[in-house]
Amino acid sequence: MADNIDTLLKESRVYRPTPKTVSAAHIQDYETAYKQSIADPEAFWSGMAEELEWFTPWKTVLEWNYPWAKWFVGATCNIAYNCLDRHVATWRKNKVALIWVGENDQERIFTYAELHRQVNRCANALKKLGIQKGDRVTIYLPKIPEQVVAMLACARIGAIHSVVYSGFSAPALSSRINDAEAKLVITADVGFDRGKIINLKPVVDEAVKSCATVEHVVVVRRQTPGPALSAPKEIDWHDWLRHETPHCAAEPLDAEAPLYILYTSGTTGKPKGVVHVHGGYMVGTYATTKYVFDLKDDDVYFCVADPGWVTGHSYIVYGPLLNGATILTAEGKPDYPTPGRWWDLIERYGVSIFYTTPTAIRLLMRYGEDWPKKSDLSTLRILGSVGEPINPEAWEWFHRVTGGDKPIMDTWWQTETGSILITPLPSVPLKPGSATRPFLGIEADVVDRQGNSLPPNAGGFAVIKKPWPSMMRTIYKDPDRYKVYWTTIPNCYTAGDVCHKDADGYMWFMGRADDVIKVAGNRLGTAEVESALVSHQAVAEAAVIGKPHKTVGESIKAFVILKQGEKETPELIHSIKEQVKHELGKIAVPAEIDIVTSLPKTRSGKIMRRVLKAKELGQDPGDISTIEE
Ligand code: WT7
Repeated sequence: MADNIDTLLKESRVYRPTPKTVSAAHIQDYETAYKQSIADPEAFWSGMAEELEWFTPWKTVLEWNYPWAKWFVGATCNIAYNCLDRHVATWRKNKVALIWVGENDQERIFTYAELHRQVNRCANALKKLGIQKGDRVTIYLPKIPEQVVAMLACARIGAIHSVVYSGFSAPALSSRINDAEAKLVITADVGFDRGKIINLKPVVDEAVKSCATVEHVVVVRRQTPGPALSAPKEIDWHDWLRHETPHCAAEPLDAEAPLYILYTSGTTGKPKGVVHVHGGYMVGTYATTKYVFDLKDDDVYFCVADPGWVTGHSYIVYGPLLNGATILTAEGKPDYPTPGRWWDLIERYGVSIFYTTPTAIRLLMRYGEDWPKKSDLSTLRILGSVGEPINPEAWEWFHRVTGGDKPIMDTWWQTETGSILITPLPSVPLKPGSATRPFLGIEADVVDRQGNSLPPNAGGFAVIKKPWPSMMRTIYKDPDRYKVYWTTIPNCYTAGDVCHKDADGYMWFMGRADDVIKVAGNRLGTAEVESALVSHQAVAEAAVIGKPHKTVGESIKAFVILKQGEKETPELIHSIKEQVKHELGKIAVPAEIDIVTSLPKTRSGKIMRRVLKAKELGQDPGDISTIEE
């Protein structure tokens, strides 16, 4: 992070919104709106909630039994109903909801009415397999429309979806299926990655061997002929839906009924199953999508995320559909088949809102400005960035190549927070590299370990001081791990990020305070990677750190102690990397592996990763008095 912190600290430029941006914005005066919202957050959130449809109204907006929150208590609702039926009942019925573009340029377009029919068919098919309210369904699909259909169909009947990113390997998938005790897995035969076929079905075959709860596997067969399926356990997606009717009433659910579980990495080896619920999550994603991206009915909204991560859940599927938006989603990488891919899609579909990541911007930067120049980007209105700190150089480049006058919403949030918490609105002056100010209704601060508020420019921990509707409700089957977020620093939510606030109250996020690494914006735990490393037969011990990287933000470096008698060879290093790929997936493979003979440890045997990191980066390791060797 060191490079980033230096450049961020030197950053002093301010970009004011154009009068046109301000006059078009839903919220034109952030300061006033913010003050009002935090004077009475419950009034602000219930006002937002009233813009949505509820089957029965709430009795209490918030029941706060620290650290447990319930929002919209006593209400019943259904998020999928609000995403679809609410629009199908209006002129939006034939409005385009989803435009999907495949890596090979295949195009599939769904109106709100068509998406509604597909979701209803899938919901009926789920019921026919015996899936009931509260049952868990694991969705292991590449970025295809069936992923969205399956998520909404689960929500419609009150089943809980658990989407697993299709880049995860069989052991990572099976541990997630087992933790959720899923009855059904929905997958596809293949995904594509820069023209290469990625076989997913064999990964599922391998994973479900150790998953006793799985009764059925539904397969979207994209290839002709697709792989053979063994009935009755394995079912073809199209056969599954073919005879179902397009009518299925949405289940009225308690506002606190779980909507999904999404696994994310923490400081220990086991991924955490973050639980979000129908009511509060619906209100949070709806409000943030509306105000942060300033969504209007004539916008075309392009978010590059994969629904396998939380950004896809909140800002491809739920937030935009709740707002009745037209969403563009594209399979594949930003530089395939050419580095002009995304710019070309922006021109082709007239994209007005473009939400992307710092890693992708830095990747595209390397190919130069000629690529964006080839396309007409004049339809763009608002830009977004998410997943990791954006360095001012990348910010400036993104700003310049898109016309120099479009505001960039640097949105800070987490899987656990459900929706965006720290962010500009289009009418807020921007400082490149700062996620700026808290969203309406959110009280945030930078504090020391005891929870004392720090003066301007002092580095500390980012905290949120009050509950908000889209906050996670628990960690699935592990309430103690949930409590840690609210008890590490008493009475507030600790995000795990280091941050400082400047004299204008702008927040500057610097990276993680814990053992979480952000590789290309993807979250990995050092302990997870280390346990994959030691599962190799030649490895005795391993420690992993994140190292600043020009394009992907951080890269993984591993320090490995070999078992007695093992020799360091290029083949061995290769096979250790293969082992990590096998255990977790490609994203977790260390870029560098150093073979060492000892690791710095505390007397109690804990590996001191910060010492390894300081040494690697040529920095002062700080207090090393507790080190044993
Ligand atoms: C962590 C959460 C938020 C959806 C995708 C990632 C980092 C996220 C920013 C930003 C600086 C950011 C934080 C956070 N992060 N957005 N705009 N500026 N850092 O969700 O995988 O749960 O990761 O991502 O470190 O804690 P996630």
